[in-house]
This record gives sequence, C-alpha cells and structure tokens, in this order.
Amino acid sequence: MWQMDMGADDVIGDEAGLLRWSTVPKTAVSDNTKPAAASPSAASIVRLRAEGPKEGTPPKILVAATPADLKNLDTVAALEEAVKNFAGCALKQTALNTVFADGNPQSPIMFVGEAPGEDEDRQGKPFVGVSGQLLNKMLAGIGLARDQVYITNIIFWRPPGNRTPTDHEMAACLPFTLRHIQIVKPKIVVPLGGVALKSLLNVTEGITKLRGRKMQLSLDDGTMCDVLPLFHPAYLLRQQSAKRQAWADMLTLKKMMTDKGLWPAT
Ligand code: URA
Repeated sequence: MWQMDMGADDVIGDEAGLLRWSTVPKTAVSDNTKPAAASPSAASIVRLRAEGPKEGTPPKILVAATPADLKNLDTVAALEEAVKNFAGCALKQTALNTVFADGNPQSPIMFVGEAPGEDEDRQGKPFVGVSGQLLNKMLAGIGLARDQVYITNIIFWRPPGNRTPTDHEMAACLPFTLRHIQIVKPKIVVPLGGVALKSLLNVTEGITKLRGRKMQLSLDDGTMCDVLPLFHPAYLLRQQSAKRQAWADMLTLKKMMTDKGLWPAT
C-alpha cells in the first residue's frame, strides 16, 4: 500500500489510482515544474491606472491592477471577466486561453498552483494535465473529489515552454488572486509549490521547509484564512521520495478540515 510506504497511519481512497503516481514517465511531465523564483510582495505591485474607468464602475480593460482597482468586483464571474480583459501581463499574447479556475467556488478549500501548462492552456482549465491527474488522486486519497475543492493558479496564462513566471508577471497577476480569495473566502488556502507560496505569502523560506506547516494569510479587507503549503504535484512526479511527506501533508489537510468542522466535506 503506497500510503503505508509513505508513512501513513491509515489508508483512504483509491489506492490503485494513487499507485499510478509513480508510473508517469518524467518526459510526460509537461507542467510547470521549476523551482521557486523570488517574487514580489503585494505591496510592491506597481501602481498604474485603468484605462478610463468611471467612478464606481469596474474598469473594462486594466493595463495594471491594484487592489483598489479590483475592490468593486464582488463576484467570481466579474473577476474572471476582468482577468480575461486584463492587458497587463504579456503572457496573454502567447497563450491560447485564459486559465482562471475550476472546481467549486463555494468550497472552503482553495488550491493555488503556479501557472497553466500545455494541457491547461489548450483546455482553459487549471490542473487538467498529468499534474492535475496526480492532484485528483491526492484529493481522492483523503476522500475528496475534485468538485469539492476550488482550484486556481497565481498566473492565468501559460508561460512559453513552461518557464517559471517572472517577478513582473507574478506581480501583475497577484492582485487578482488576492481579490479572488477575498471574494471566495476559503477557510484553507493550499499553495501548490514554492512559486505559489512565495507569491501569496512573500516568505523567504522555500517549500521544502514550509510544506505541511500551518500558516495564515491576512488581507487588507479583513479576510483571514489558514494556509497549508504542499509540494507541487509536478515535483512529486519527479521526486518519488517526497511522496511520503506529501501523504503526511494531505492528512494534515484532512485534520485541519476536521478541526474546523469542515469534515466530512460536502
Ligand atoms: N501546474 C500548475 O501549477 N498549474 C496548472 O494549472 C497546471 C500545472
């Protein structure tokens, strides 16, 4: 049983499916898998302006976004529209699709990955490639279906060749992700990998140190949520030895949900 091999206390879910974690050849991993790059804090976001917004109405096309630009966007649909109209991230020019979110926006659990890969770019949905298949299995391992969680990325367009997003690209997209969290108000945010973790929390320590540790995110409108960083699934596909820690972290997520009265998940 793979969970036991990883040091699990109990075994839950689709064991056969989870065993396939180790069967994906390295060459099949097309998602973003680069190590974390330095990322900007929310405070360092360049303050530019929208093109011609009228007082009290959401701007149609932003060339750069500040939290103030987005504060009137109160629904996921309105935010998605604003992201699709955003002209401040050059990655959009080479991408096929904007990749905004998938799953259940009412879920108390919000996973935040790095950036779309090739499959995600083609389908316009996050985590639908090999990393996404592994994420689904990790969720199933603790009894969660994909449609019981909400999934997004810190970057909405595929970086060419799946390179790591630049600081500038992360800074451009971050206000949208923070507003996304303010709108959805998840109880637990789960950054997947070091790039998402650094972008969201502006921490200096990496994912290897901080994975599985309960942290907190506090936003300027008073939104507070727990944060549980996990290894990125693409990293786990390359680094089989990290699966034991990943399983322990999934059990931590389940315990956090239980402690918050969020288990069994609906
Ligand atoms: N990797 C990510 O970080 N996000 C995706 O959507 C797919 C792969």
